[in-house]
Amino acid sequence: TTRVLTGITTSGTPHLGNYVGAVRPAIIASHAGDTESFFFLADLHSLIKAQEPDRTQRSTLEIAATWLAAGLEPDKVWFYRQSDIPEISELTWFLTCVASKGILNRAHAYKAAVDKNRADGEDDDAAVTGGLFMYPVLMAADILLFNAHKVPVGRDQVQHIEMARDFGQRFNHVYGRDYFVLPEAAVDDNVATLPGLDGRKMSKSYGNTIPLFAKPSELKKLIFSILTDSRAPGEPKDTAGSPLFQLYQAFATPEQTQDFAQAYADGIGWGDAKQQLFELVDGQVAPLRERYEALIARPDDIEDILRDGAARLRRQYATPFIGELRQAVGLRNLA
Ligand code: TYM
Repeated sequence: TTRVLTGITTSGTPHLGNYVGAVRPAIIASHAGDTESFFFLADLHSLIKAQEPDRTQRSTLEIAATWLAAGLEPDKVWFYRQSDIPEISELTWFLTCVASKGILNRAHAYKAAVDKNRADGEDDDAAVTGGLFMYPVLMAADILLFNAHKVPVGRDQVQHIEMARDFGQRFNHVYGRDYFVLPEAAVDDNVATLPGLDGRKMSKSYGNTIPLFAKPSELKKLIFSILTDSRAPGEPKDTAGSPLFQLYQAFATPEQTQDFAQAYADGIGWGDAKQQLFELVDGQVAPLRERYEALIARPDDIEDILRDGAARLRRQYATPFIGELRQAVGLRNLA
């Protein structure tokens, strides 16, 4: 059995990047034969950036409803909230004690914070919390606790999965047995990094996102605001480096993508191209949006699903395994 695992940080409203980078490939992978899937809401991770309790709660509900609207079946996959599994936090400490600081120093998010501080003339670590620095260790615990083989993610998360392999390997080595499976990232090359409105990676932190469940009128407005060059209708357009084209490709079949590339070569006007993108995305999102609206109106049902998922998962995997790991490192097994 292949175990597939992925999570989304509950620090905002889910956007198209989360959908094509994680939710859609994860749901597809979960339908393959002989797989066991683990999909979760990374609310502990949200404390690092958000530090806004109401936002974390609201986002948890929205992201849970997103998974369900996208076709997750809670009876067939493990579906849970990270903070409902205290064993994840405990494993984080065990891994912290084998994680090399030198590797953590190289994490992109941490390095970006240091670079920004330098550019601003501040101390390297100004305003960098221990949480930001240790972020990859918490993520490794998410993955290693359930011995996941495959982790469907966007390209921005690949480095974290390599780190999880490193920490797992080190733990196995130090404690002399293969306690952990070493996970691999599964990245969809068509959508490895979905661009946002301004052409940079679509990201909550850049404020350039298209919310997955924006109302059609808002979706249209956002799509029409995507950055394009100033070439007029009739002039051939470049597909390379065109965020509009990359967004189209992430939702289209290969044939549709080919036709769209031809339209670029034939000098399609930007307005027409945007209209086509809007219709493509809206056509795919509309049925999900309808389910999402119904789900989000019943937060208590979602809460029940999450609690039940976590309780079963702890019983079956987390509690016995953390007991084994406690013994491995020389602590008492509480179970
Ligand atoms: P997060 O919440 O930033 O993003 C969730 C997922 O969406 C993908 N993604 C994108 N994919 C393509 N293009 C984009 N523009 C884009 N933006 C986001 C991300 O790659 C990710 O797959 N640390 C993780 C959450 C996490 C996790 C885990 C993931 C916590 N523990 C364990 C996998 C396994 C994060 O903050 O993702």
